[in-house]
Amino acid sequence: MTTVFQPGNQYPVLLGPLADTFPQWMAQRNPSGVLLLTDSNTRKHCLPAFLQASGLPSDTPVVEIPAGETHKHLATCTAIWEQMLTARLDRHALVINLGGGVIGDMGGFCAATWKRGVDFVQVPTTLLSMTDAAIGGKLGIDFQQVKNTIGVFRNPGAVFVDPVFLQTLPERELRSGFAEVIKHALIGSVELWETICHFSPTHLQACSYEDWHHILRLSIDVKVQVVTEDPHEKGIRMLLNYGHTIGHALESYFLETEHPLTHGEAIAIGMLTESWIQQQQLGKIVPEEWKALLLRIFPHQKIPAGIVPEIWQTMLQDKKNKAGSVRMSLPKSMQLDMELVEPCEAEILSALEAYSLLQV
Ligand SMILES: NC(=O)c1ccc[n+]([C@@H]2O[C@H](COP(=O)([O-])OP(=O)(O)OC[C@H]3O[C@@H](n4cnc5c(N)ncnc54)[C@H](O)[C@@H]3O)[C@@H](O)[C@H]2O)c1
Ligand SMILES: [Zn+2]
Repeated sequence: MTTVFQPGNQYPVLLGPLADTFPQWMAQRNPSGVLLLTDSNTRKHCLPAFLQASGLPSDTPVVEIPAGETHKHLATCTAIWEQMLTARLDRHALVINLGGGVIGDMGGFCAATWKRGVDFVQVPTTLLSMTDAAIGGKLGIDFQQVKNTIGVFRNPGAVFVDPVFLQTLPERELRSGFAEVIKHALIGSVELWETICHFSPTHLQACSYEDWHHILRLSIDVKVQVVTEDPHEKGIRMLLNYGHTIGHALESYFLETEHPLTHGEAIAIGMLTESWIQQQQLGKIVPEEWKALLLRIFPHQKIPAGIVPEIWQTMLQDKKNKAGSVRMSLPKSMQLDMELVEPCEAEILSALEAYSLLQV
């Protein structure tokens, strides 16, 4: 069974078995050439199944880059563009991004800038990219350790979401993506919340293909509604950044340590701390069940208080800010309703202290 979404009526997001949709889509598209982008893990774990389901020839050119966020930068783009040159990709070619958010963001960026733009499709292989990164047309790379600083908006030709790839995803990565699923529930779907509110790490591991199809259908629906209404992040799309103002700054900080956090681990702390700020500034009580779910799925992290000045500096560079303040977008309800708050550095410190006290 395939579920079809159409963000802004621009391109299809096809949720279901790849073999049911990809070959037909390719036959219609008929590109002049194809380049497949993978990282070292998706080449090993996802490429064989992808080639089989897609019907593409086994000698389709494959570019492999090293796995991980630390490679999401300009030097890797140069390596990808060099491969595009070698493969003689013209403007009627197609780039297929087979991987997580790093491959999707960076492969999409390389395609969008190659000869002023060649088409690309996203074939997300992590939970995070299936529910979030692959949808919405935001592409880019990190610069000077600041995440997603260089980038463009450009829609893919299509997004093929097949939960089959989740079978080989490491448990920590599955939890990482689940942070975005929780975020989508909290900002915009009571039905999704009711489906996942009782989850534990054991539940996540035990989900079947059908369970994932159900969860992804509800979660993708929230993302699609938001990007359809606000494709260029002028308003409600900022709500997708719930947890990301503090979360991104923590992620950048820990990236440079011996114990990097996954995106989802950082965003989970971000949602807990940003909710605390919302509670202080607006007197809005954050339901205990939200905190309980986040703390069940994401082990408590020790955050040294001394890092606040550094993460504050990172937060000041956040793209949502205006005129030197830090702006956070927080959910008013589970119905895509947003409020913006502007905390000061001392409140970030207090929020992280409050998070420390949550440790059980
Ligand atoms: N464009 C957007 O709107 C948007 C939204 C959210 C996040 N992002 C970006 O997404 C990135 C994070 O994405 P991610 O969590 O998918 O990271 P990722 O792409 O680094 O993937 C995580 C790890 O899982 C491995 N992997 C991927 N699929 C696998 C599979 N099926 N089996 C085994 N291993 C597999 C990867 O090799 C990597 O080691 C960040 O750079 C973030 O900025 C972008
Ligand atoms: Zn995110």
